[in-house]
Amino acid sequence: MDRRNFLTLGGFAAVRAVTASGHSQDHTAAGGAPAASHATTQEGLIMRRIPSSGELLPAIGLGTSGPFEVGADENSRAPLREVLRAFFGAGATLVDTSPMYSTAEAVLGELLTAEQQSKVFIATKVWTPGSGGAAEQKGIEQMQRSMSLLKHKPVELMQVHNLVDLDAHLKTLRRWKEEGRIRYLGVTHYTTSSYPDLMSIIEREKLDFVQFNYSVGTREAEKRLLPMCAERGVAVLINRAFEDGNLFTRVQGKALPAWAGEFGAKSWAQVFLKFVLANPAVTCVIPATGKVRNLLDNLGAGTGPLPDAKHRAQIVAAVG
Ligand SMILES: NC(=O)c1ccc[n+]([C@@H]2O[C@H](COP(=O)([O-])OP(=O)(O)OC[C@H]3O[C@@H](n4cnc5c(N)ncnc54)[C@H](OP(=O)(O)O)[C@@H]3O)[C@@H](O)[C@H]2O)c1
Repeated sequence: MDRRNFLTLGGFAAVRAVTASGHSQDHTAAGGAPAASHATTQEGLIMRRIPSSGELLPAIGLGTSGPFEVGADENSRAPLREVLRAFFGAGATLVDTSPMYSTAEAVLGELLTAEQQSKVFIATKVWTPGSGGAAEQKGIEQMQRSMSLLKHKPVELMQVHNLVDLDAHLKTLRRWKEEGRIRYLGVTHYTTSSYPDLMSIIEREKLDFVQFNYSVGTREAEKRLLPMCAERGVAVLINRAFEDGNLFTRVQGKALPAWAGEFGAKSWAQVFLKFVLANPAVTCVIPATGKVRNLLDNLGAGTGPLPDAKHRAQIVAAVG
């Protein structure tokens, strides 16, 4: 996809484009209401800062659980090549994966072109359930394998998946960060029941990133976890922004309300993603897709204005 196509599909018309090289700009909602100032990529994608380094990251990323868990046949890989081409063509960079996602790391490593490898911000994980006292060594071997499958060194972000064997892996991750084998470290989970644990880890450990679930249907993180991340200067990746696709069922048959246009949303997916990005503690949201059409839809949510408090209340009421 060339830039012109992306501009058409992404609906960038209302955005005064600026570069990530330190410019910021006004985004004006279609209804004329002023919206927050953001740094954007050249293509108009909103960027957010990683607090621990100040590095800017495009706020729409890509999840790989499910769609990238395919075999070697070209039929299942061709659409993923297109997804990656469109993703990097739009100026996005963060791809989240894990050794837990069967073939996803290997598929990514095989599909990323040399140019994409030079742009990508890989967020992968270490995941060693049932390894007992051998967790540290198993984790080291697994992370080495991930880098080799991904054909990517150093990995930008290594996360402890679902907090499994946390202490063993954090020790390695701190050492690896010092040695330059990874650039950032973090932890992940995907359930609200994990929030007390996540908050106590954020309190006692110095983390660059935390990844957890947040969506218009599950807003628990707004109460304490998101404010805490902002206060402590921890970057936030959001998973399950569509609740694994279930949010679309909740709005099935419902026409997109006219007010969605006031913050530039052209689909329910963009409403859901813009809702998440409207929280300033969120650094990047990582919807998973294996379809170019849906990817472009999702990238469009990272452009233009974001919903204000009134719009967010309307979104919550509409989704129920
Ligand atoms: N513990 C953890 O660390 C953890 C846990 C959960 C998730 N994650 C990460 O977060 C990522 C996202 O979470 P998730 O995969 O659970 O769920 P999700 O992003 O909430 O939902 C993915 C589903 O939404 C569909 N979809 C995507 N874009 C769409 C669009 N524009 N319109 C309609 N449908 C759309 C996808 O189908 P199509 O493929 O058909 O587009 C897919 O079925 C994962 O892939 C993974 O990288 C991490």
